[in-house]
Amino acid sequence: MQTITLDGYAEVRDAYRQHDLEQALYDAGGVVMADCLLVLHGGEHRRRRRVENRLFRRGTFRYWERTFLHDVVRDTLAPFHAAGRADLLEIGYRTIMNLTAMVAGVDQPTGSVEETDALYRFAKKFSEGATLVHTTRDPEVVRAEVQDALDDFDRIFLQPSVARRRALLARLDAGEITEDDLPRDVLTALLRNRDELGVDDDVLRRECAFYLQAGSHSTADAFSHAADDFFTWARSDPAAAEKARHDRALLQRCVYETLRLHPASPVAQRRALAPITLRGGTEIPEGSFVVLDIAGANRDGRIFDRPEVYDPFREVPADVPRWGHAFGGGMHACIGTELAGGVPTPDRPSPEQAHEQVLGTVTLMLDALLAAGAHPDPDAPPQRDPDSARDHFASYPVLFGAP
Ligand code: HEM
Repeated sequence: MQTITLDGYAEVRDAYRQHDLEQALYDAGGVVMADCLLVLHGGEHRRRRRVENRLFRRGTFRYWERTFLHDVVRDTLAPFHAAGRADLLEIGYRTIMNLTAMVAGVDQPTGSVEETDALYRFAKKFSEGATLVHTTRDPEVVRAEVQDALDDFDRIFLQPSVARRRALLARLDAGEITEDDLPRDVLTALLRNRDELGVDDDVLRRECAFYLQAGSHSTADAFSHAADDFFTWARSDPAAAEKARHDRALLQRCVYETLRLHPASPVAQRRALAPITLRGGTEIPEGSFVVLDIAGANRDGRIFDRPEVYDPFREVPADVPRWGHAFGGGMHACIGTELAGGVPTPDRPSPEQAHEQVLGTVTLMLDALLAAGAHPDPDAPPQRDPDSARDHFASYPVLFGAP
């Protein structure tokens, strides 16, 4: 089979928009990814996405950020801050875990730290299953571990969550409650539309598991890289970094630079269902395998001046997001973009725009981390993930207080 690699910004954007390119990155990760939104194609994807999109309407995350996200970030950080040390991966997962569980519809009856940590272990295992294509361990061993984790997750978390929602839906049918009394999450949306969508219990389980890992792993990864890039920048340009500490719009651009330089998914993969000619003239024969090199396209010198440099002040063309392709594009564009990345703050925001600002969880987390005086632990350097070929930290120890 022919493999075609695209690493120019414009051709990757064009490829994302091709309806005859179907998802091919998760073929090896079927144990957790089969029939999930991210691997569906055509009408099936459109129908599922329409149902799940309703939860991600514009404005939902603005409301979340106004009402409780600041508190979630602050409260999660507090015990680490008090202890004087933390690992960025742990802070990242702890903060985002409860949010993604809420989006997925996975209840946490006790709300304890132990419960969050259990979900965190499941999400990490599901993530390992989804990215099996990149594993450096024995794939069969990983697959068996992921299947066991799915069974445990189902018994401990999912079945009670399903039962609670079924009871609510029965009360809705009986006219005892209204739509407004239902939880706004993926599980409820799927239970309500399961016949139309053809979703059985196994798919329901994998979709919730997929959401848990898709939302948490990428956000925790972006957070650790955002802090690492910021620490490095603060050493080379302390005045600029200090400015960003007090200017959240600039801090948001710092995060966008990190997403551009360290996209959580460095490649996307697609299969051509028909012959395609891209705008730039690249021919893609039917049946070929297409690698979208996101990390490469995000460093395309035709779009990003001095592409290798971390420069939150950079100018980008009006139709190019500062994060490049980090949130994907086309039909599979990330459904959580606004939750994780917020809405880009305009250069000179009007008072109304400033009031409406949505920073996104990664910027909120970085802001809280820096405000708490975090800096890398000089005696415990960050470690790369030995079990993945991807650009991930496995641990990143930080201390709080004066360096
Ligand atoms: C910094 C954080 C994040 C990054 C960098 C990121 C990145 C991505 C990328 C690149 C894709 C497309 C993959 C492809 O085309 O093959 C994607 C899809 C997706 N993401 Fe995210 N994501 C993030 C956060 C989130 C969050 C917080 C959620 C949910 C709570 C989420 C849910 C999803 C879903 C459901 C899809 C599949 C959409 C579809 O197939 O229609 N992501 N994400």
